[in-house]
Amino acid sequence: MADSLILSAKGVTKTYGAVVALSNASLEVHSGEIIALMGANGAGKSTLVKILTGAITPSSGEIEIKGRKQTVRSPAEARAAGLVPVYQEPSLIPDLDVTDNLRLGNTPVEPFRHWVDELGVHDLDMSETAYRLPLAIQRVLDLARALASEPDVLLLDEMTAALPTDMVEKVLDVVRRQKEHDRSVIYISHRFPEISAVCDRANVLRDGETVGDVDIVDGVEDHIVELMLGAPVKAAQRSGAAAQISTEAKAAVPRLRVRDLAAGTKLTDVSFDLHAGEVLGVAGLEGQGQDELFEVLAGISRPTGGTIEIDGAATDFHHPADAIAAGHVYVPGDRAGALLMQRSVRENIALPFHTRPSRWGPINMGAEKGKVDAAIERLQIDTRAQGEVQRLSGGNQQKVTIARWIALGVRTLLCFDPTRGIDVRTKREIYPLLRELAEQGSSVLLYTSELEEIQLACDRAVVIFGGRVVDEFKAEDADEPTLMRAAYGLTDAPGSPRPEVGA
Ligand SMILES: Nc1ncnc2c1ncn2[C@@H]1O[C@H](COP(=O)(O)OP(=O)(O)OP(=O)(O)O)[C@@H](O)[C@H]1O
Ligand SMILES: [Mg+2]
Repeated sequence: MADSLILSAKGVTKTYGAVVALSNASLEVHSGEIIALMGANGAGKSTLVKILTGAITPSSGEIEIKGRKQTVRSPAEARAAGLVPVYQEPSLIPDLDVTDNLRLGNTPVEPFRHWVDELGVHDLDMSETAYRLPLAIQRVLDLARALASEPDVLLLDEMTAALPTDMVEKVLDVVRRQKEHDRSVIYISHRFPEISAVCDRANVLRDGETVGDVDIVDGVEDHIVELMLGAPVKAAQRSGAAAQISTEAKAAVPRLRVRDLAAGTKLTDVSFDLHAGEVLGVAGLEGQGQDELFEVLAGISRPTGGTIEIDGAATDFHHPADAIAAGHVYVPGDRAGALLMQRSVRENIALPFHTRPSRWGPINMGAEKGKVDAAIERLQIDTRAQGEVQRLSGGNQQKVTIARWIALGVRTLLCFDPTRGIDVRTKREIYPLLRELAEQGSSVLLYTSELEEIQLACDRAVVIFGGRVVDEFKAEDADEPTLMRAAYGLTDAPGSPRPEVGA
């Protein structure tokens, strides 16, 4: 029964005290359709998904599923009606292993394993504690769990935001294949290439209100952005000229010198220099050692080999606090661990001001407030629900993790996928900020799962594959196809044999 209306929502509203999360949202989904749900950070996308799947109750509005008016009172009711979500934040219980997580959610194991395999994860250890799995793998497991219940409508809330290119492709394949069975998908992403690759229509939210429903055709992107923002946005541009690192600076001792670094099972042999005033990109497919690299540099785990020098001095961080004390800070991809969820936006941004060693000078509350305000303003953080960070939308939480270091100023910023889930407009604010930090003398190491960001934000990029640096590019040469080839181990440089993927 292709093309029958399977889900419709009309005039949905949701308020939290004075905060209006949704003011008038409407949506129609036919069977076999893939609908993009779009909108800037804080527009109300996740709120709508949670309402449709019974995680929260709307203040008002009407929902019909398969032609029947229905109040979805709980996730179990939603699932019984065929609506199954993958929420924006990972939903595995962190302290339980995979098997126990499945048991808890009544997920059938065989279908789950089938989907894990389809999604390209072939070496899952079911007895691994969830929090030990890389964020990307946790997300794939969330998806496999949802697929295992064969939903009529699958709701994916930024499912791909933490995934590297190769895994995104697998997810897009699975999404496309839902159509073949007349199943539908509501797909949330800030990435246009994904939307145009799989979606039939886009439903656009602005400030809690549905402002458009447009077919996905060539060239519709500008129109959608205009609907999302209520104004046109200028094209992505490389932010300023690449920092012209003077020959003196280059000749000088690098801020960070990494040699033959090895850690865990995946990072085998990584070497690079990062200079003051430079933004160095790191690109790679999932599981090539990037997680381990950043964790070692941030003092979270210990290397098994190699050396790290900061300003020419050998360094051996035993704890993240050692790294922070050296002005060497880490913005993790997993925001949940980086934020005090029950504290305010301001407290979270100001946090490092209070942990800074006293030798860096006394705390000046006036100056602190000014810097925090400036960071909120620069990153356009939606502060309507600022009393507790957990009430912010996912993208706004992500901004807070970056804002604190922008406010403080750092010597080295280690950014792991910092723009995950951040909308187009704000992304274009973040690249210049990273560049500005560099121009003021900081150095920035940036891993990103969005390869186009390398050219927009970095001076140089290294590509990591099989735990080693296999290539290095200047920004002007680091376009997406080039990086992608290198990330798949396909560079033609003679003399350097490429390890097998996953080796
Ligand atoms: N529990 C809550 N209390 C107060 N305000 C809330 C709560 N939950 C959400 N909000 C607010 O509702 C608005 C919409 O949030 P929502 O998470 O739906 O946005 P979103 O479109 O998913 O954004 P993003 O792209 O950043 O994920 C935001 O202003 C948010 O702060
Ligand atoms: Mg959201």
